[in-house]
Amino acid sequence: MPVRKKVAVLISGRGSNLKALIDAEQDAYDITLVVSNVQDAGGLAIGRAAGIATFALAHKGIARAEFDAIVDAQLRHHRIEAVALAGYMRILSPEFVERWAGRMINVHPSLLPLYKGLHTHERAIAAGDAQGGCSVHLVTAGLDDGPVLAQAAVPILPGDTADTLAARVLVEEHRLYPQTLADLVRTL
Ligand code: GRF
Repeated sequence: MPVRKKVAVLISGRGSNLKALIDAEQDAYDITLVVSNVQDAGGLAIGRAAGIATFALAHKGIARAEFDAIVDAQLRHHRIEAVALAGYMRILSPEFVERWAGRMINVHPSLLPLYKGLHTHERAIAAGDAQGGCSVHLVTAGLDDGPVLAQAAVPILPGDTADTLAARVLVEEHRLYPQTLADLVRTL
């Protein structure tokens, strides 16, 4: 069996994508560390329940580059080889992005390049789009801007609200993210 790549997941919230990554773990990767910039993020409990090391530090009052250097030190300590952002609501410093170039991915709830940033589902519905979806992309300096590795589309149905569409897209995120992470780490 090939050696599994050590992956850190960075979160800020409930951690449903983290859970999907953990549940789908197979021969390609091993979630070794969960990092949160929010001390009471729900996802931390998911990590702990799975026996995974967690590191939580509130970013308030710490300069961005300094905060990211602290996170990077944790990643090095745990010999992390790839990073998955999963609802990490924090813009990364250029130094951190450069350090993990080609080894850091994000899941975004839109069909990129459409709707970078927040409120993606509201914006897709307001635009009258026939489809919403999610994208997994390499992280580069621009927000939600890196090369797209994989996408999944879902129909936007009459009467959809941002919440109903988000729920439909989330199912696809949970399927697509583990698959794409596994594909990426196999190339490292
Ligand atoms: C997901 O919709 C993801 O696409 C976006 O933030 C949300 C995180 O949800 N980046 P969760 O914390 O993984 O449940």
